[in-house]
Amino acid sequence: MLPTIDWVDNEVVMVDQRKLPTREVYVRCKTATEVARAIKTMVIRGAPAIGVAAAMGIALEMRRSKATGTKQFTTEFQKACELLAGTRPTAVNLFWAIDRMRRVFSDTAHAGASVGELQARLAVEARAIHDEDVASCRAMGAHGATVVPNPARILTHCNAGALATAGYGTALGVIRGAVDAGIPVTVLADETRPFLQGARLTAWELVKDGIDTTVITDNMAGALMRQGLINFVVVGADRIAANGDVANKIGTYTVAILAREHGIPFYVAAPLSTIDLATADGAQIPIEERPIREVTHVGTTQVTPDGASIRNPAFDVTPHGLVSGIITERGIARAPYQASLRAFFAAPDAAPRP
Ligand code: MRU
Repeated sequence: MLPTIDWVDNEVVMVDQRKLPTREVYVRCKTATEVARAIKTMVIRGAPAIGVAAAMGIALEMRRSKATGTKQFTTEFQKACELLAGTRPTAVNLFWAIDRMRRVFSDTAHAGASVGELQARLAVEARAIHDEDVASCRAMGAHGATVVPNPARILTHCNAGALATAGYGTALGVIRGAVDAGIPVTVLADETRPFLQGARLTAWELVKDGIDTTVITDNMAGALMRQGLINFVVVGADRIAANGDVANKIGTYTVAILAREHGIPFYVAAPLSTIDLATADGAQIPIEERPIREVTHVGTTQVTPDGASIRNPAFDVTPHGLVSGIITERGIARAPYQASLRAFFAAPDAAPRP
């Protein structure tokens, strides 16, 4: 299992995803500020992974608190939550994880816990969020394998793998699930400009696992679909609205349109922590604009002329009508998503919601 993020000797340790695939370097965070910086600067990225990082960052910060009473401890806790919540706006897993930490904090504080007990409880919760995410990914893998064609020629976009989660992956979890089920699988990984999550991270993970992987530039998918070289698409998600609209890495919408045109199933794999029933539709999802340097440069090489205007929206929204199904740890939701997604939350052992 790839070491995306872990809590080791009271530090949060993450593989630096900016440096992959050429260098495997680990970043050790001692404070919430360091974790927040790691999220903002993409040391760690991917919706579930940043949720786990935020929870661990809060637990870490509170562990080093010198507060002697719960009043001061509570003030520091609120500050840490706000700091982490300000890092990235689109992936709802971040806010879901922070809300979960807030709920645990207030339940434990209301029960009259001491500062030491609160510190211990927050650390346990952060670890639980991590472990539950791995279990959810594995369940998604098993559910997803039931809809993967045999043999499969799968296109994926961005990185929704072990690196984007606590381990195993969402979209790549489905691919791993299909491989585990004995389905012959080849993968086409969109390079995913501008940050190259597909070329750098998805290909790195899948090659490490011995899964046949071919990297293509984002503008090649249509031609390859037309040649019959793709028979299934699976992607992750950063936030899924109550009506099933899906925010995911910029370019996902284009892939979904192409899949529809060529009659290829287009699936989204995401845990319930990515589903935001409080957001009615995709138009309400905030879309992060990232620094333009990600577009103007590839590595250290400038590829655009000075003076050109640049846009860098990091995500787009795929309307629910283009989505064949949403693979979750509870099963596969089908249209109408308004009802099918809600039903997963109503089930007794569904993930807790804010
Ligand atoms: O900007 P990033 O790299 O954080 O974007 C990641 C994605 O868009 C992933 O597809 C998404 O978070 C799903 S990860 C399981």
